[in-house]
Amino acid sequence: MELLSKNFYYKKNDLFCDGIKIADIVKEYHTPTFIYSESHIKNNLQQIKKATTGKEITVCYAVKANPSLNILKLAGMDRLGFDVVSEGEMRRVLISSPGPKQIVFSGVGKTNEEIEFALKNNIFSINVESLSELTHINSVAEGLNLKAPVSIRINPDVDPVTHPYISTGLRENKFGISTEDGIEAYKKAKALPFVEVKGIDCHIGSQIMSIEPFKQATERVLGFVDRILRETGIVLTHINLGGGLGIPYSNEESHTDLEEFLKLISNIVIDWYEKRRLKPPHLLFELGRSIVGNSGILVTRVLYLKSSTDRVGKNFAVVDAAMNDLIRPTLYDAYHEVAPISLNAETSTKVWDIVGPICESGDWLAKARRLKLLEGDLICFFSAGAYCSSMASNYNSRRKLSEIIVNCNGSVKEIVRRENYEEMWAREIT
Ligand code: LLP
Repeated sequence: MELLSKNFYYKKNDLFCDGIKIADIVKEYHTPTFIYSESHIKNNLQQIKKATTGKEITVCYAVKANPSLNILKLAGMDRLGFDVVSEGEMRRVLISSPGPKQIVFSGVGKTNEEIEFALKNNIFSINVESLSELTHINSVAEGLNLKAPVSIRINPDVDPVTHPYISTGLRENKFGISTEDGIEAYKKAKALPFVEVKGIDCHIGSQIMSIEPFKQATERVLGFVDRILRETGIVLTHINLGGGLGIPYSNEESHTDLEEFLKLISNIVIDWYEKRRLKPPHLLFELGRSIVGNSGILVTRVLYLKSSTDRVGKNFAVVDAAMNDLIRPTLYDAYHEVAPISLNAETSTKVWDIVGPICESGDWLAKARRLKLLEGDLICFFSAGAYCSSMASNYNSRRKLSEIIVNCNGSVKEIVRRENYEEMWAREIT
């Protein structure tokens, strides 16, 4: 049986990742740990290649999804660009592999230092989110005596139908500039001597399962491109349509794959331009979750089973991973599929809440799951490749976890080692 991707499956009673028994990996390392399939990521990169070869399309990897240097290197080797939101992410991209890189810099709160760092490193474009930011960029660029390449992030006011915390393209969200104020932003950018207006961008949210919101946003952006040309005379050289393509978090969910998504959306743009007998501009996307989300699992050990015989009759499985390692369930009510690492015949199925050791009731990882569990068992959470290790913290002075990758050649490599205690307080001054 395959679980959420062809890379994780049971053979007899054991869970495997690309030919390697998960229990064997854990024996060599420890729990909890993240385990990724390189083959899953490479397959997604292959889909991107198929959809973009021969076209002027750049897919930027959204670093925040999983910023591990090895994963950035994989993306870089396949000539992806990078979408970053901080100097830290830019630095990660720059050191992950040699060679020129197309970097786009998003975010509503870029500091002058970050803008300067971006400009000195010759990035492809700064995605501007407000009129004030334009002024800052202009004065930093003046200090460096260069022209800052910018794109204006438009908020297209489209409902992405996703969790409110990860919706970004609605009028009430803090992101981008409304179409009402957008023309003024382009006029201002055109008038600033140290700014070069190159493009337009939008990003409407994350974990979007339907293609419709993407189509709507694309059409609104195109309509706005027309207005920019008519009202300001600016010809844009690129359109960046952001990211947000969702992945299945359970085996029942259907989804659009990367290749299909890229072809569908880019064709809307290409057709629009061709109808007007114009050359389509350079198209960009910023994708994170759909590239790495289902490449990873979080493996954890059941420490204690705790059942109450009162009228509430709760069954808790306390595991060695916690909300600091996997914050998505408690933060977004997110569902991650749970499965045992070895199928257990020696006990009966019960309904379990899976919780961590942290001193908060919010420290839950899954609720009401039907599983056969014994103390000491290994279980795992699926879809842990994106926004899991990258959102981890040291809360309760718990160490950051190790991350392991099963390579396409069958070798197993620790790509991030577990934090040690000295590292945890190394920055503290006593
Ligand atoms: N571009 C921009 C400007 C973004 O803000 C994001 C994600 C992306 C691209 C990539 O989106 P993706 O393709 O990965 O959906 N922590 C949340 C997700 C937050 C996404 C934030 N922005 C979660 O765990 O679901």
